Amino acid sequence: MSAALRTAIFGATSAIAAEVAAVCAARGDRLWLVARDSQKLAALRERLGDAVVGAEVCDFEQLETCAPAVQRAIAGLGGLDRALLAHGYLGDQLRSEADVGYARHVIDVNFTSAVALLLPLAAHFEVQGRGHLAAITSVAGVRGRPRNYTYGASKSALSTYLQGVRSRLYRRGVKVHDIRLGPVPTPMSEGHPQNFLWGEKGQVARGIVKAMERRWHVVYQPGRWALVMAIVRVMPEWLFQRFGFLAGR
Ligand SMILES: NC(=O)c1ccc[n+]([C@@H]2O[C@H](COP(=O)([O-])OP(=O)(O)OC[C@H]3O[C@@H](n4cnc5c(N)ncnc54)[C@H](OP(=O)(O)O)[C@@H]3O)[C@@H](O)[C@H]2O)c1
Repeated sequence: MSAALRTAIFGATSAIAAEVAAVCAARGDRLWLVARDSQKLAALRERLGDAVVGAEVCDFEQLETCAPAVQRAIAGLGGLDRALLAHGYLGDQLRSEADVGYARHVIDVNFTSAVALLLPLAAHFEVQGRGHLAAITSVAGVRGRPRNYTYGASKSALSTYLQGVRSRLYRRGVKVHDIRLGPVPTPMSEGHPQNFLWGEKGQVARGIVKAMERRWHVVYQPGRWALVMAIVRVMPEWLFQRFGFLAGR
């Protein structure tokens, strides 16, 4: 891709999305940023300069505000070539096991609010007949683990939803990307012990943009997670349960 693309990023101030926005700005894209925190949004806007056509504060848990935010992004950019959903909430797994209201909050941030954004975005791309629609999911969604299965289930639901949208829009020429992220040091993973499998936010951001440019549908970032999760996915339950680092807390 060489032409300047009109790109909208939802959850734009997430550590990873901000890096994606920087990669897009460097390649000459025109950006529309939507995020919950006005101060972080102002700082990101300043960092990216003229590449940012517009920005808007929005809490995606307020579901009724999602479609208008999408419509303003499309109008502000004068159309849309690609959209990325990047917000998410890991939450406290133990609390989500004891409090259904809290479990619902985790699910709503990761899944319901994403659906509220995907409805108008998919409708737009369907009429337009081209474009790229991407969302960041997680390797946690591939197999449920005690450490984070409420979050993992909500990301898994999002992956399945994206799969459906992809098949719906496939013949229209619209590309739908499921970006399955492995762990990366960001505010979300703060305090978690790191190992050699962890990614770096700049590298992951470049991988996300590349995935859209190469038209890859389901992408693991960093790429080594494709192999790890291929093994984890097919591991029989009796074997899975023997590995404490996978099946334990
Ligand atoms: N870091 C990892 O290890 C990892 C691994 C797998 C997948 N992911 C996924 O990667 C994506 C980016 O996360 P990150 O690592 O960059 O973490 P991050 O910096 O903590 O970003 C999470 C973002 O989600 C936003 N958000 C949460 N609830 C929201 C709501 N109701 N409305 C609007 N925005 C909301 C947060 O906004 P505020 O700034 O206002 O809090 C924050 O900007 C997420 O989808 C996450 O699930 C991350």
